[in-house]
Formats: sequence, C-alpha cells, structure tokens
Amino acid sequence: MAEIEINQGDITKFAVDVIVNAANSSLLGGGGVDGAIHRAAGSELLEECRRIAHTRREAGTEPCPAGDAVLTGAYKLPCKGVIHTVGPIWYGGGRGEADLLASSYRKSLLLAQETGFSTIAFPNISTGVYGYPKEEAARIALETIKKTLPHTPGIRRVIFVCFDEENYRLYRTLAQ
Ligand code: APR
Repeated sequence: MAEIEINQGDITKFAVDVIVNAANSSLLGGGGVDGAIHRAAGSELLEECRRIAHTRREAGTEPCPAGDAVLTGAYKLPCKGVIHTVGPIWYGGGRGEADLLASSYRKSLLLAQETGFSTIAFPNISTGVYGYPKEEAARIALETIKKTLPHTPGIRRVIFVCFDEENYRLYRTLAQ
C-alpha cells in the first residue's frame, strides 16, 4: 500500500514525479498555487497549456472542465510532470461540489498511474480562491485518495502539501 504523507510548504519545491496544480478551466494560469507553479516552471508551461486549450476548444470542449485532469511537462520545476486539475467553486454545497472535488483527486491519481509515475504531491484543491470549506475538503481529499489507491498499484507515495497552517492542522488531525 502506498504511503500517505502530510507536509507543509511550497509544492513547486517538491522533487516528486508529478505535482498537481489547482487550475481553472481555461488552463491559462492564475493566482494561488496555479500562479506559483507557472512562475517556477517558466513560460514553456503556459505555451503547452495554450496548445492544449486551443486543441480542446477546436474540438468543442473546455480545456479542462471541473473535476477533470490534464498532464503537461514540468519544465523548470524539479518534478517530471504537472497534472492540472480544476476543483469546484464553492456555491454552498448544493451544486455537486463534493463529487467534483472527489473527481479532481481521483482523476489526477489515475492519470499519474497511467503515466507510470509513482510519487505525487497534491495541494489543497479548491480551498483558496474557490472557497471550499477546508475541513470538508480535507476529508474528501483523504477519503478519495484512500479509496482510489487500490486501483493505482504503481503509486508508492502520495504527499498532501499544505501551504497554510489551518490546512496543515486539519490534514494531520484527519489523517491520524
Ligand atoms: N504550494 C502549495 N500550496 C499552495 C501554494 C504553493 N506554492 N500557493 C497557494 N497554495 C494553496 C492555498 O493556500 C490553498 O490552500 O493552494 C490551495 C488552493 O488555493 P488556490 O491556489 O487559490 O486554488 P483554488 O482554491 O483551487 O482556486 C483555483 O485560483 O489561482 C486560481 O487559476 C486558479 O482560477 C483558479 C483558482
């Protein structure tokens, strides 16, 4: 069974196989962890995201719908790849937010497995700009990863990288 770790820090510094980005559906960057990842990766990451976004819009779909996940290179980052996922915006819980958040974690882990990665780091998806209540988001994140790991035998290590103190405390309490 894979190890699950709770760390505090800046996800762009983690030299794991793949880090997960809390992106938006345009895939064209933003603030928060999305901004930090693009800054650290350099402009080639945005160029690849632009190509993916263009191809998907040509095919009539959003570059990355909420709950979905897209893989790119990592460029100047110390990891080997970046999985961009789009968490739900919190509207109060009545618009399927919990299922979409779970889907973001599940699809990112399955995509890492399919790509042959064995170590992955997640940020606390949707708990910043998107306003998802942190405790509920932490519970969904841990529960979804634990439920998905039996289907991803290649994954040996999952790290939850908490940036703020509150998330760090919540994850450590819930992961016990
Ligand atoms: N490393 C790890 N976690 C980070 C970092 C970092 N360098 N910077 C911020 N975070 C944390 C935030 O503290 C928060 O707990 O990432 C978590 C997710 O917050 P956001 O980055 O705001 O992401 P989210 O809430 O999913 O909103 C996504 O914000 O940046 C835009 O383009 C993005 O539109 C999208 C929206």
